[in-house]
Amino acid sequence: MNEPNTNPASDPPGTGPVTEPRTNPAGDPSSTRPVSDPNTHFTGGASAGRPAPVLSARGLTRVFTTPAGDVRACDDISFDVAPGELVVVRGPSGAGKTTLLNLIGTLDRPTAGTIAIDGVDVAALDADAIARLRRDSLGFVFQGFGLLDVLTAAENVEVPLRLRRTDAAERDQRVRDALRTVGLADHGGQLPDELSGGQQQRVGIARALVADPRLLIADEPTGQLDSQNAQIVMDLIAELVHARGVAAVVATHDPVFAARADRVIELRDGRQVAQSALESAR
Ligand SMILES: Nc1ncnc2c1ncn2[C@@H]1O[C@H](COP(=O)(O)OP(=O)(O)OP(=O)(O)O)[C@@H](O)[C@H]1O
Ligand SMILES: [Mg+2]
Repeated sequence: MNEPNTNPASDPPGTGPVTEPRTNPAGDPSSTRPVSDPNTHFTGGASAGRPAPVLSARGLTRVFTTPAGDVRACDDISFDVAPGELVVVRGPSGAGKTTLLNLIGTLDRPTAGTIAIDGVDVAALDADAIARLRRDSLGFVFQGFGLLDVLTAAENVEVPLRLRRTDAAERDQRVRDALRTVGLADHGGQLPDELSGGQQQRVGIARALVADPRLLIADEPTGQLDSQNAQIVMDLIAELVHARGVAAVVATHDPVFAARADRVIELRDGRQVAQSALESAR
């Protein structure tokens, strides 16, 4: 991997159209977001004056059966994430952060408990509906960036739009906007190994956001970055969440990132030990 870019000021992120209003998915006739149905819809989500949560987790439990015995990687975890809210999941190695993110990202199924995304109970969806939910409503950012080596930065960002069969002209425009948003307007033609670690992660964020997700899920997004690039990635995620109204759940060891969160979920041995409401910087 290349050396991290030590002069990120040369292409600052956040200069793009971060503050553009989100398009309302409900008003988009081409949207394939899951349609609420009376059998799967949660009723207790929204309260007066507060937006309905994008994510509702209740009693989430995941037990792994191993030769050495059962491991309760997540044990009775409950929380909501509203639009525009940044929730940090914190805890020592092995606390269950990745397990929790895999559950809410529909990459794994809970042993017990429920997950609702935009009021739809994920357990009630078949495999195709879950694939559509992931494609249309979720954005993922990974610690190791997760870029495809043989694709340019722009082509990597384009992947979610190709999966959605977005037409070519709109794809080009969205990819350009997303790369500009993360400060990489001039780097779309470069392959991942021609970019610094910080730049690669910004491509990862552009890819997660290009299809306008409802929920952003990031597992240690700054874990492989030096502190300067980590700061840029944190700023970018916080700014995007707050400006665009995306809901985000970010697992991190980084106390600086936790201080930027609207809420912190602290895990120890799979259990939620504290949930502190933090003063939002907004
Ligand atoms: N597929 C699995 N099979 C068995 N045990 C597992 C599996 N995945 C995770 N675990 C166990 O669940 C616990 C939580 O793991 P998890 O990866 O969620 O922790 P984490 O908080 O993400 O840690 P880290 O900070 O190191 O990434 C650990 O004890 C781990 O060994
Ligand atoms: Mg982990």
